Amino acid sequence: MAKHRPEPELPPCYAIVLPGLEEVAAEEITQDLRGDVRKTARGLVIFRVGVIDRDILRLRTTEDVFLFAWGTDQLTYRAVDLDKIQRWTAREPDWDRLLRLHHAVRPRPRGRPTYRLVTQMSGKHGYLRKHAHGALTKGLAGKLPASWRHAEENASVEVWLTIEGNTAVCGVRLSDRTMRHRTWKVEHLPASLRPTLAAAMVRLAGTGPGQVVVDPMCGAGTLLGEQVEALRPYQRQGVRLLGGDVERNAIRSAAINLRRLGPKRCSLWPESGEDEPGAIPVFLARWDGTRLPLGDASVDRIVSNPPFGKQLGEPEDIAPLYRRMIHEYDRVLRPGGRVVLLVGELAPLRAAIRRTAWKPIRQVAVRVLGQRAVVSVWRKPEQ
Ligand SMILES: C[S@@+](CC[C@H](N)C(=O)[O-])C[C@H]1O[C@@H](n2cnc3c(N)ncnc32)[C@H](O)[C@@H]1O
Repeated sequence: MAKHRPEPELPPCYAIVLPGLEEVAAEEITQDLRGDVRKTARGLVIFRVGVIDRDILRLRTTEDVFLFAWGTDQLTYRAVDLDKIQRWTAREPDWDRLLRLHHAVRPRPRGRPTYRLVTQMSGKHGYLRKHAHGALTKGLAGKLPASWRHAEENASVEVWLTIEGNTAVCGVRLSDRTMRHRTWKVEHLPASLRPTLAAAMVRLAGTGPGQVVVDPMCGAGTLLGEQVEALRPYQRQGVRLLGGDVERNAIRSAAINLRRLGPKRCSLWPESGEDEPGAIPVFLARWDGTRLPLGDASVDRIVSNPPFGKQLGEPEDIAPLYRRMIHEYDRVLRPGGRVVLLVGELAPLRAAIRRTAWKPIRQVAVRVLGQRAVVSVWRKPEQ
C-alpha cells in the first residue's frame, strides 16, 4: 500500500501595504480571511491562512499579496547582504511548491509561461537596487522551468524582492495591479484617494445594516465605491450612500466610477433611484459640503477626505473650511454616529472638533503621495 505522506504546512503569505495601514490590514486579514498574523513591519504584514485560494485576492486594504519564499529583518546595509540574498533565494524556498500554490490561485495561462523578477528597495544601503536584483537573479538560476520566457509586461509569474531598511522579503506575487488600482476606478482627479486607503477608512467607519453614509466632499467617489464593495459580500440591505462635491466635474467622475460597480447603482439625488434588488444605492449631488441639504441627526456615518490645502485650496483657507464643515457634520450626524476623516494636518481639524462633543476613537498616521496624513475616527456621544 502506498504510504500516505502528509502535505507539508502551507508557507506563510505576506501583504505589502501603505505605510501606516499595517494594523488595519492585519485586522482585515484576521477578521475577513481568518488568517493568523505573525508579524508586521513598515509596509508589511506576514500571515498564515488555512487555505491559499482566490479568497486572498479579496483583501481590500492591501496593495499586493505574495507567497512567502524567505524574509529577514537583519540586513546589515553592507555588501555582505548580497551574498545572503543570493544564498537564501537559492536554498530556502521550495520554489516548485510555491509555483504550484501560485497556479492554484492564478491558473497557468495557455502557451509558454512568462516570468518577471522585481526588486524594490528603500533606505540607504551600501549597494544599489540593481545589485540586489542581480543577487536575486543569480539565486533563482535554475529554479524556474527552463522553458519559461522572461517578460516585462503581463508575466504569468512574478518573483519580488522588497527591501525596506533592514527588512527584506522575497516571494511569488499572487495579486496583480487590480488589487491596488481596482477595476472600477477609471476616473481620477487630482488628490483622488488610493483605493486601499479608502478601503481602510471604510473599515474604520464600521457601517452597519440600514445606515446612512455620506461623503460630503466625494471627489471621484473612491470612498463611496469602497463602501459599496465592502458591503457587497454581506448583502447589507437598507444602507444608503450619499455623496456630493462643489465641482461638477467631480460628480461626473464619481458617477462614471460608481456606475461601473453595477447598473442603476448611482442616481443623481434627489431623484429616486430605481434600485436593483439587494443593491446598495448611491446618490450623488452637487452641493456645498458645509451646507448640506440633509436633515438634523439624519446620518450615521460620515467618511471623507476634505482638501488638505496643498493640492487643492490654500493652507490659510483650511481652518475656516474645517470649522464650517465640522459644524455642519455635527448637525446632520445622529447621536452615536461616527466620522472618519483623512486630513494632512490634525491641528485645524482638532480645533474645529473641540467645539463639538465628539470623542476620539482612533488615529492612524499614513503617508499619502509622500506627505504625512492622518485618518482620525470620532464618535458623537449618544446624548
Ligand atoms: C481631497 S478631494 C477628495 C478626493 C476623493 N476622496 C477621491 O478619492 O477622489 C477633496 C474634494 O473636496 C471638494 N470640495 C472642496 N470644498 C468643498 C465644499 N465646500 N463642498 C463640497 N466639496 C468640496 C473638492 O472639489 C474635492 O473634490
